[in-house]
Amino acid sequence: MIAHASPDVRAAWAALSLSLPARHEAAARGAEAVLAQLAADILAVPSLDAVSAADRPIEHRRALALDVLMVEAFARRHGSLPDAQAARALHAACAAVAAALGIQPILNYPLYIRHNPLPPAPLRTFTPLASEARFIRMHRAVEERLDALIPVLDTVLDGHSDDAFDAAFAAAYPTLADGFRAVNALMAAFQDPQRMPVDAFTAGFRPYYASEYDPATGRVLREGPSGLQSPTFRAVAMQLGYADHGLDHWTTHLAGYHETAVRDDLNRRRADRDAGHSMADRFAARFGGQTLPRLHPGHAASLPDLLAMAYRGGWVDQASTALLAAAGVRIDVWPPDAPEPPSTDVPHPPPTAVADAAFATLPSADRGTLSRFAGLEAMLFGFHVAHVATAAAQIGRVPGTGGTSGVDFLVIALYRRAFPALWTSGLGGAAARAGVENTIG
Ligand code: HEM
Repeated sequence: MIAHASPDVRAAWAALSLSLPARHEAAARGAEAVLAQLAADILAVPSLDAVSAADRPIEHRRALALDVLMVEAFARRHGSLPDAQAARALHAACAAVAAALGIQPILNYPLYIRHNPLPPAPLRTFTPLASEARFIRMHRAVEERLDALIPVLDTVLDGHSDDAFDAAFAAAYPTLADGFRAVNALMAAFQDPQRMPVDAFTAGFRPYYASEYDPATGRVLREGPSGLQSPTFRAVAMQLGYADHGLDHWTTHLAGYHETAVRDDLNRRRADRDAGHSMADRFAARFGGQTLPRLHPGHAASLPDLLAMAYRGGWVDQASTALLAAAGVRIDVWPPDAPEPPSTDVPHPPPTAVADAAFATLPSADRGTLSRFAGLEAMLFGFHVAHVATAAAQIGRVPGTGGTSGVDFLVIALYRRAFPALWTSGLGGAAARAGVENTIG
């Protein structure tokens, strides 16, 4: 039978989830007593066998799911509930809230980051740590900034003729450049030991993002919250035209963590990309390179040019690369355990002087458009460099909560190119040397 989640039931779960920071502190003195009390409190909540999809508005279902799934993550992190009846009630509540949203019954990134109420409404956190609240707010800010760039890129992609595309790209470029400056700086801010103390993150609140394992085999059944589940990054990745096996594998796999509407939007964007509607395809149709792989160890050749452009454009800072060097993370080497790259060869760019001369003889409109493509690639490249540095600072070499190898997995993203021919032809390098990425709006 489908039951409606009454306001009383919702309020009871909200109260339970809001009590987690205090229980976290009490657990430091003894988890057993905390779990026993939590079990008693769960049994006192009227049962939630099913949540009606008609329990509108959707905000109610999200809030309820966030509350229930946070309680489940808390109980799992501290062991397990000592009372079988309470454990069954919690399990049933998780299944009900997940079914009402069409998601996996485990806390996910969209709920914890995006649908978590922000003050003045009560924010849901596991701990009383100020850095956890900051973590949620900073992450949310990144999501909102990326979200705002999606329609901007859509407008560029809607330019049918080359002239319309060039004009739309020129008009959008300053917004994209500013947006990625903000996003990448926010990403780098997670490296700051004052704003995000490593101990508070690794030993304080990150353990609550743990995956669910099969105790018998150790196999991951459901991944915990991870930026890997960020829907805005995936939408931008599709618009850009990133296309490789790893990216597509995770896009398919992560569908289970997204509500139906988000999943549909991502599927549509992926189908658009596969139908040739992406920035990568616009580039290739104009300037060639359709057959070049978009992920390849050979793209190491363009790393220095992209890095130089990303520094100058303000899309990555020297502190991020210094941090990677100090942590011994090589970004110029294809990670040893990374999957076999495609067998296609990636040509090496021509000598600098030849590339610069070829760039100088292009019509100025083409030079502008090529430079914008190079700048856009550098914005995303800067995002990936800041991100891998953040992960190196915060988690070192342990696996990610989203089920990957962590830092090594993230290094692979530095070998993604939406516009590979731009770099193999040397024209991207020439644009980088011309240093026009901040003046081509
Ligand atoms: C303390 C901060 C962060 C750490 C430690 C971190 C760590 C990781 C790790 C280890 C992964 C690999 C997947 C996994 O196994 O979980 C990952 C993936 C990802 N994270 Fe983060 N991350 C952080 C912040 C962010 C932020 C602020 C964003 C912004 C939206 C973000 C977006 C992503 C995306 C989009 C992926 C997938 C990348 C890809 O497929 O190439 N992360 N992150």
